[in-house]
Amino acid sequence: MPDSKEKLSYVTLVLHWLIASIIIILLIVEMDYPILHKSLGLLIIIPVIVRIYWRSKNGYLPKANFINKNNSYKAIKFELLLAKVSHWFLIIGSLSLPLSGILISIYGGYGLSLFGLELLAPNQDRTGSLIIPLNQDISILAQDIHSIISNMLIIILALHIAGALKHHFIYKDKTLYRMLGIKK
Ligand code: HEM
Ligand code: HEM
Repeated sequence: MPDSKEKLSYVTLVLHWLIASIIIILLIVEMDYPILHKSLGLLIIIPVIVRIYWRSKNGYLPKANFINKNNSYKAIKFELLLAKVSHWFLIIGSLSLPLSGILISIYGGYGLSLFGLELLAPNQDRTGSLIIPLNQDISILAQDIHSIISNMLIIILALHIAGALKHHFIYKDKTLYRMLGIKK
């Protein structure tokens, strides 16, 4: 079933809330739990790619019944554009964060693992006690990119949540209910 004005498909709902909860957890815990961070950060790539495929196949979300008598047409157009740009940033951010994270780990010599399952061995010295970076410059560049994108994502996410709340409490339309899968 495709997304419609009244109802979003289960695929859209599950992908949105699955990806949103993982991203919010990772933005909050950062590297307090490195195994959790890197493993969830790697796994998220699967639903993110499915979402990109799903959106490219089904197009942009149709607007929920969005009637706003107080705003001018220009203001509404601006908000719709802002929503579109921020949705794209959220999608691109949720792909480029895992990719830059992978580069930090690989080029830093740490290898890759998924909840303890080794996918790529770390680059250690003969004694096995020292991690040797494969390329320190690339690893540091990836760290900077990871940090800049995650900080930008926090700002856009705050805007995104504010937008959802504005629809709900000010415009009093179905945008938030529709994304929560609630039919009102
Ligand atoms: C508490 C947190 C969140 C709330 C309340 C929320 C709410 C919403 C709502 C109401 C929509 C529908 C917009 C419309 O109808 O035009 C939406 C869409 C969207 N949200 Fe969120 N969101 C949250 C977190 C996130 C996070 C963390 C991401 C990061 C990836 C995200 C990415 C998106 C994207 C890309 C869309 C466009 C539709 C889609 O492709 O699923 N959201 N969100
Ligand atoms: C959507 C997925 C991800 C999110 C939201 C995320 C978020 C973050 C955040 C907020 C930080 C702190 C940045 C800062 O200090 O300014 C961070 C650091 C870090 N992340 Fe991620 N991350 C993700 C995926 C990954 C993956 C897949 C890996 C590796 C396999 C990874 C490895 C790291 C490392 C090594 C750091 C520390 C970098 C440093 O020392 O500056 N991340 N991440």
